[in-house]
Amino acid sequence: MKYITTPLYYVNAEPHIGHAYTQIAADCLSRYYRQRGNRVHFLTGTDEHGEKIAVAARENKIEVKEFVDAGVLKFKNLWKILNIEYDQFIRTTDDAHVHTVEQVIIRLHEKGLIYKDMYEGWYCVPCESFYTSSQAGNQLCPVCKRSLEKLKQESYFFKLSQFKEPLLNHIETHPDFIKPLSRRNEIIGFLKQPLKDLSISRLDVNWGIPFPQDKSHTVYVWFDALLNYISAPGYISDTERFASIWPADVQLMAKDILKFHAVIWPAILIALDIDLPETVFAHGWWVVDGEKMSKSLGNVIDPVKVVNEWGVDAFRYFLLRDVTFGLDGDFSYNHFETRYAADLANELGNLLSRVLSMIKKYNPIYSGSSPDGLDKKTASLIEELDDLYRGLRFNLILEKIWELIKTANTYVEIQKPWILAKSNTGRLGEVLTNLFEILKVISGLIYPFMPDTAGKIQKQMGISDKDVLKWNTDLSFSNIIKGEP
Ligand code: ME8
Ligand code: MG
Repeated sequence: MKYITTPLYYVNAEPHIGHAYTQIAADCLSRYYRQRGNRVHFLTGTDEHGEKIAVAARENKIEVKEFVDAGVLKFKNLWKILNIEYDQFIRTTDDAHVHTVEQVIIRLHEKGLIYKDMYEGWYCVPCESFYTSSQAGNQLCPVCKRSLEKLKQESYFFKLSQFKEPLLNHIETHPDFIKPLSRRNEIIGFLKQPLKDLSISRLDVNWGIPFPQDKSHTVYVWFDALLNYISAPGYISDTERFASIWPADVQLMAKDILKFHAVIWPAILIALDIDLPETVFAHGWWVVDGEKMSKSLGNVIDPVKVVNEWGVDAFRYFLLRDVTFGLDGDFSYNHFETRYAADLANELGNLLSRVLSMIKKYNPIYSGSSPDGLDKKTASLIEELDDLYRGLRFNLILEKIWELIKTANTYVEIQKPWILAKSNTGRLGEVLTNLFEILKVISGLIYPFMPDTAGKIQKQMGISDKDVLKWNTDLSFSNIIKGEP
C-alpha cells in the first residue's frame, strides 16, 4: 500500500495555486502508483479548529460550524475541478478524529509524557504557533512577520524535549526521512539546539477539542491536526485497516510547516510506539511575479481562473514542470503562455495531429518489424520512472517525456512519411507503426500529470484497450496494436 498525504488546509482560506500545487503533486504520484498496479491511499482534508478559524468565523458573523462547513466545500469543489482523485477526505471536526485525539492524549498522559505548567511566551494566530521571547524579537512573528499576542496561562505540556536524541538518531539513520537534503540539514541544525517541551492546550480558545483530563482547556490546534494522519486510517477506530495503510510513504507539504512534520509529528509517533513515515517532503513556495501572494496585494492566483482559461491539464503540467520540486516557484502568466505554446501546443499537439492525420491519410499496412531504436528509448525511460517518482522529480520526469516527444517529432522529419507514401509503402507502414506506438506510450506516460489529455489522445487513436492508462497493458513496443487504429 502506498499511503500519500497532503497537509490539512486551514478551512478559512480561499484556496489558491499554493494549495493546488501540493494537491496536484500528491495526485500525480497517486495516479502513477495506481497505474503501476499499487494500492494507494491518498489522504487530504481540512484543519478546522483553533483561534484563527474562530476569529475568521466571528469576522464573517456566522457560527463557526457553519463557517467551516462552507469552507470545506470550497476546497472540495476545487479538488474536483483539478481532477484530484483522493481516497479519503478528513475533517478535524469529524467525530472519529476527535475521539482519536482524546485517546492519544489519554495514552500519552498514562505514559507520563504530559504535565501541567505555566506557559509564558508569544503566540502567532495566523501560524498557530508558539514563540519564545527571544524568537519574538520585536513582537512580530519570525515566520510571517505579523504581530504576536502575549500569552501567560496554565497549559498542558508534551515532553517534546525528551525526543531530541531519538529524533536526531532516526534522521541520521534514515537519509530519506526528510527531503530534500537542504531541508533535512535545516532540521538537523534545529535539533542540535535545545528542544523545549510543547504547550499542547489552550485555556482561552473555545473552538477546539476539549482536553480530556481537564475540560477547561482545548487541545492545541497543531497537536490536534497532526494526528489526522493516523486517525484517518483508523489508529483507534479500526486497527486492522490502520495496519494495512500506515506507515505513510510520502507526506507532502511546503517548507512553511516542515518543522511541525519533521520534529513534533515524529516525536508524537515515537511516544506512541508507532513507526515513522518513510518520507516527509517539503516542497518550495510559490510567489507571483516575485511577490508573496496576499489579499492586500491583490495578487492571489485563483486556480479556477487559470483552469477556465487554459484547461486543467495545462495548469497541472505547468506547476509540476516549471520548478524543481523542493525549490521555490514564481508564477507568471507570461511564462505560463510561453510554456503552453512551446511544450503543449507545439511539441505534443503537433506530434498528435501529425501522426493521426498521416495514419488517416495514408491508411498504412502496420508492421512493427523495425522500431528504429525508438523501442529502446521508451523502454529505458520507463525503467527509470520508479526511481524518479520515488525522488519526486516531477519536472525531470516531464523533461524526459518531452525528450521522447521531441525524438518522435524529429523522427517524422527525418523519415518523411509523405515521401515514403509515394516510394515505399512497406517502409511507410513501419514508420507509422513506430509513431503510433510511441504516441501510445507517451499517452500513458503523461497520464499521471495530464489524465484528461491522456484519455483524449487514446480516444483519438482509437485505442479500445483503456487499460493502457492503467498500465496493465505493457507500455512498450512489444505490444503493437495491429489493424486499423
Ligand atoms: O499550515 N506555495 O495549513 P495551510 C506552496 N493547517 N505551497 C503552498 C503555498 C504557497 N504559496 N501556500 C499554501 C496549515 N501552500 C495547517 C496544516 S497539517 C496537519 C496542518 C500549501 O492552509 C503547502 O502545502 O496554511 C503548505 O504547506 C500548506 O498549503 C499550508 O496550508
Ligand atoms: Mg499557512
